[in-house]
Amino acid sequence: MDHSLKEILWRQFGGSIDMLKNAIEFCPESLWDTEQQFGYNAFHCAFFLDYYLTLDPRGFTPPAPFSLSEFEDRMPERVYTKKEVLTYLEFCREKCRNLIATMTDEIYRSNWENESGTMRYNVVEILLYNMRHVQHHAAQLNLLLRQNIDNAPKWVREAKKQTLLISIMNILLVYSHPSKKSYTFQVLEHLKSKISKQNWNLEISDLYDMNFQSDMSKEEYEREGFAKTELPISNDVLDEHDKIEKADCIIFLYPVWWSDCPAKLKGWFDRVYSVGYAYGQNDTSQKMKIIPFGLVICTAGHPNEFLSEINMAQSMETIMLEDRLGKRFENKEMLILGGTLELEKVMEYHMKQIEEVVQKIKDYFG
Ligand SMILES: Cc1cc2nc3c(=O)[nH]c(=O)nc-3n(C[C@H](O)[C@H](O)[C@H](O)COP(=O)(O)O)c2cc1C
Repeated sequence: MDHSLKEILWRQFGGSIDMLKNAIEFCPESLWDTEQQFGYNAFHCAFFLDYYLTLDPRGFTPPAPFSLSEFEDRMPERVYTKKEVLTYLEFCREKCRNLIATMTDEIYRSNWENESGTMRYNVVEILLYNMRHVQHHAAQLNLLLRQNIDNAPKWVREAKKQTLLISIMNILLVYSHPSKKSYTFQVLEHLKSKISKQNWNLEISDLYDMNFQSDMSKEEYEREGFAKTELPISNDVLDEHDKIEKADCIIFLYPVWWSDCPAKLKGWFDRVYSVGYAYGQNDTSQKMKIIPFGLVICTAGHPNEFLSEINMAQSMETIMLEDRLGKRFENKEMLILGGTLELEKVMEYHMKQIEEVVQKIKDYFG
């Protein structure tokens, strides 16, 4: 199946699912379980979304705690909570994205048929049927919201760009240098130009440009130092968490300052690697995803040979790769672009190394 057609399908189907999710999130607890059955309708829609996304629907079972009550024309054993339904919807969203992303020509031409044989559709048609069903209930729930609280979420035009199909890789580049006159900035530009030739999404956290706060506040320390995961996390940190969750590969780029990264980037680790997220997880905390590929690139004044001789290269690698990236990354490597005190001797080789590393990422993700 043509890739751009897959993208089109996902953008619109994902957009419908997002509208349903927004309506559910918007629903006040007082409206969830009334005779207007907001909560039940939300569950009903997620259940059939899951069912119609099952290529072989015979023997379909929903994930726990849900049952097959919907097929038996009866209400569920109990009212499912908003959190349960939202978790189910997230599961269905991923299922939908995967189904579209991995749809081969064979699947695309095959049929979807229910057990009793009363419904028989081509696989793409059942996807459209399903999308109409989701949109129907999203509209119904929005109407209930308008009638009860005189407010409802906005229209969603398409699924978020960063959540497109799996074949499009998302790269997060965490960049830390204050000056555009620097050599590190030239490296950034070269890296960006190489990445732009790939069909990848690139998100850049330019820490100086964003004026990223690198100092941990007293309130934040209260949360971190005493592992009080119930305390709130700052919005700028949550934004970085969002970027991390979308990334398939994270690249860190910075100059070596006093044998380490600039304080700005160190502060990014201090704050963004919050307790309950990057370490010290518990049942209620949202755990950081495992990033498939991590790459650390730093420029250094001293030549690589000298940095190795004095054991500084090894020490920087240990801190960055073993501690800061650690088990949070499946694969990781570090590229020290040393010898910048005599740029003319090393620049060409550095740029070649950048190209090689982009090729490596490409090979890794196939
Ligand atoms: C504050 C400061 C500390 C530095 N410390 C080191 C160091 O410990 N080891 C090293 O090899 N180079 C060190 N350098 C050199 C930088 O790594 C070098 O300037 C950088 O690789 C490329 O410079 P640019 O991107 O700022 O133009 C330091 C530079 C500055 C400004």
